[in-house]
Amino acid sequence: MANTILVGAQWGDEGKGKIIDFLTETADLVVRSQGGNNAGHTVYAAGTKYVLHLIPSGILRAGKMCVIANGVVIDPVAVAAEIAGLRGKKIKVTPRNLLISDRAHLVLPYHRLLDEQREASRGKGRIGTTKRGIGPAYGDKAARVGIRMGDLIQPALFAEKLAVRVKENNAVLKALGAGQLKFKRVLADYQAAAEALAPFVGNTVVYLHEALQAGKEILFEGAQGTYLDIDHGTYPYVTSSNTTAGGACTGSGVPPHRMDTVLGVMKAYTTRVGEGAFPTENAAISDFLHGLGREFGATTGRARRCGWFDAVATRYAGMINGMDEVAITNLDGLDTLETIRVCVAYKLGRKTLQVPPGDHAQLADCVPVYQEFPGWQTPTHEAKSFAALPKKAQTYARQLAEFSGARLRIVSVGPHREQTIVV
Ligand code: GDP
Ligand code: IMO
Ligand code: MG
Repeated sequence: MANTILVGAQWGDEGKGKIIDFLTETADLVVRSQGGNNAGHTVYAAGTKYVLHLIPSGILRAGKMCVIANGVVIDPVAVAAEIAGLRGKKIKVTPRNLLISDRAHLVLPYHRLLDEQREASRGKGRIGTTKRGIGPAYGDKAARVGIRMGDLIQPALFAEKLAVRVKENNAVLKALGAGQLKFKRVLADYQAAAEALAPFVGNTVVYLHEALQAGKEILFEGAQGTYLDIDHGTYPYVTSSNTTAGGACTGSGVPPHRMDTVLGVMKAYTTRVGEGAFPTENAAISDFLHGLGREFGATTGRARRCGWFDAVATRYAGMINGMDEVAITNLDGLDTLETIRVCVAYKLGRKTLQVPPGDHAQLADCVPVYQEFPGWQTPTHEAKSFAALPKKAQTYARQLAEFSGARLRIVSVGPHREQTIVV
């Protein structure tokens, strides 16, 4: 039995959802432990496309248990809508396959308004957030003025706490020149969501520990990626949670010694959505991938910025996460290229760096040192085994894993379940 933490090793959108869905076949439970509906995880199951935001990607497989743990921030209206959307696609979502932590903090409409307002006032210095209210919601959690799922399902208590918070936030919003919230309107919307969600809410820590006791296999589904981590990412151009492996422990109440493996998911190239430094960004690669209809955001639809694989970034991600294994996705995106570049070091002035600098302005000044690899110029979509991949593609994939200091476990050559090769 192995409990696996799956993390994004780059800037998010590495294909985590696809790999989680694939691995769920042999797992018993899938747990989200951080982030909120800023995440967008795309899964194709039996030809149908699903984009999951708050519900773990394991939900698409019958008989698997999904848990939204304490470290997640939940927009109850959004999660209720996501459940309804899945049911509309004939996916069963009941308290028998979804449990939501009573400790998880809520995203409220003032968080979204503040997120929008702060972004607008930052102007050119904006982060490029998803405007889902994630930063302000985690901010309230840390400031100890958050409201939690356990409060939401107690109508009188929720109304009392909400009244205080709406009053304070309306004053802040007014000072910032933003719109005002109507307490009654917010209360009505959230009470409706509370009724829909109440049957799902409970103590997820006890549930997970009972599952561990029973020898069940747990998959921790990371959201975002290592460089969006609030501590280790390209601050301040990050999200507001710990997206790295440790976040799975604090965000779920499962202790470190019960975790067996850390699997890092990485694209065969790099993408980033939103603002912030991106040393290997390359306009030609962006145009090429967008021209193939690829790399548009699953949550906001924004075109993702694209560039060459950054081994400096994934080497450091390997360190922070303790990555044992890697899954390389979107290898097929490079199928037609004659030459492929990989950034193996940064030049910062006269210095050569093997790991990213902590200072964002310095990272923005880093110039990649590239190593070139010959392209395989052969379609890989149909490959069913590692040996069936072109030799040059095999070499490239093995190199990326080696650069990242982890064992190559999975290579993905298309968005569908069947296009997944276990090495
Ligand atoms: P996540 O947020 O990490 O789950 O990733 P997203 O779903 O936001 O973005 C990954 C995109 O790549 C989605 O559109 C997936 O369907 C797609 N995808 C994942 N793996 C592969 C692959 O190996 N090849 C191709 N062509 N697409 C892939
Ligand atoms: P998944 O789980 C890619 C980015 C935003 C912005 C920054 C802060 O699909 O990989 P936020 O709304 O969190 O305050 O935005 O983080 N971001 C993501 N980028 N994938 C994601 O999730 C992301 N979630 C947030 O674009 O740059
Ligand atoms: Mg995504």
